[in-house]
Amino acid sequence: MKIRTNFPLQTLNSLNVSAVTDEIYFPCSVKELSEITRDKTNKAYILGEGTNTLFCQANAPLIIKPSLKGIEVSESEEYFHVSAACAESWHDFVLFCTNEGMYGLESLALIPGSVGAAPVQNIGAYGKEVGDFIERVTWFDFTQQKLVEFTKADCQFGYRNSVFKQLLNGKGVITHVHFLLPKVWQAVDSYQGLSDLTPPVTPQAIMAKVIQLRQAKLPTPKVLPNAGSFFKNPIVSQAIFQLLQQQYPTMPSYQQGNGEVKLAAGWMIEQAGLKGFRQNGVGVHEHQALVIINYDRKGGEDIVAFSRFVQEQVMNKFNIALVPEVRFITQHTELDNVNAGEQ
Ligand code: EPU
Repeated sequence: MKIRTNFPLQTLNSLNVSAVTDEIYFPCSVKELSEITRDKTNKAYILGEGTNTLFCQANAPLIIKPSLKGIEVSESEEYFHVSAACAESWHDFVLFCTNEGMYGLESLALIPGSVGAAPVQNIGAYGKEVGDFIERVTWFDFTQQKLVEFTKADCQFGYRNSVFKQLLNGKGVITHVHFLLPKVWQAVDSYQGLSDLTPPVTPQAIMAKVIQLRQAKLPTPKVLPNAGSFFKNPIVSQAIFQLLQQQYPTMPSYQQGNGEVKLAAGWMIEQAGLKGFRQNGVGVHEHQALVIINYDRKGGEDIVAFSRFVQEQVMNKFNIALVPEVRFITQHTELDNVNAGEQ
């Protein structure tokens, strides 16, 4: 197995912060995963393509970067069953499925990251989440040193959340994700921006539109280092929403099935006057205020300080606490996201 010591991580995280790890492991198979000893796995952080990770300090923890590759397809009467290994690129996988006539994932095109990271965050865009298409997930358990199968229900998918991010965080690695793509395809084109497509709406047309929308709003990490949405959209009670709506009648809102209401963090950051704002080489993107850009390739501490500033401004204006979607990783621990900006 490839192992490196004293390894710089700047090119392995899309915010481009410089951080160094004492050791990094690149297991290419389940056998190689099982060769990593417990004293190492106990303190390891699992890194995908680093598109949702903020190394907060100059020193990063021990890293395991799973490098398993491969895609397998089979079919039943109603479904395509597509299994992909964790280190496949998410966008390339979406292209592969769409080009092969296996549809459903097209709304999730161009989301940066790996296949293995997709269920951890339950990535989503334009009315769809990856969990909608997952049949099961294969996971390598560090304690038992064996593969465990998780059904979709076991994964406990929520908004940018899953059991892998909560209870199982750091306890193992997703090796393969198994997708169930219905052969009868149904367009999801109700989302603002997709609703003006000319009928008949095809998966290819949705994918092209999603790519166009994302390219217009979301900066390419290689040009402007960023981690996509930096914060989650806050979900509040109906009572809190009504209070806010009285004060801000144009505030965007999305009713959730359970009576709660999702608010638009990007809108709040913009209303707080921060869209396009830059300080000390870090800034809020000028086309999408939910994205923080590391313009001057600053260190993790500077991004943490800037995100705390954004949280403070939104708290002062709306009395709403923004919670980072990005994971805050220090040398010895992962910061609790609810309080991450407060550290
Ligand atoms: N808005 C503003 N100003 C801004 C940004 C947004 O007023 O600077 C308003 C928009 O006009 C709209 C609302 O806020 O009324 C929501 O904006 P948008 O549709 O752009 O989506 P978002 O809620 O900001 C979420 C996801 C994105 C995903 C888009 C599209 C989260 C945290 N983010 O963003 O996901 O691409 O919807 O579906 O849920 C990511 O997670 O990294 C990501 C990019």
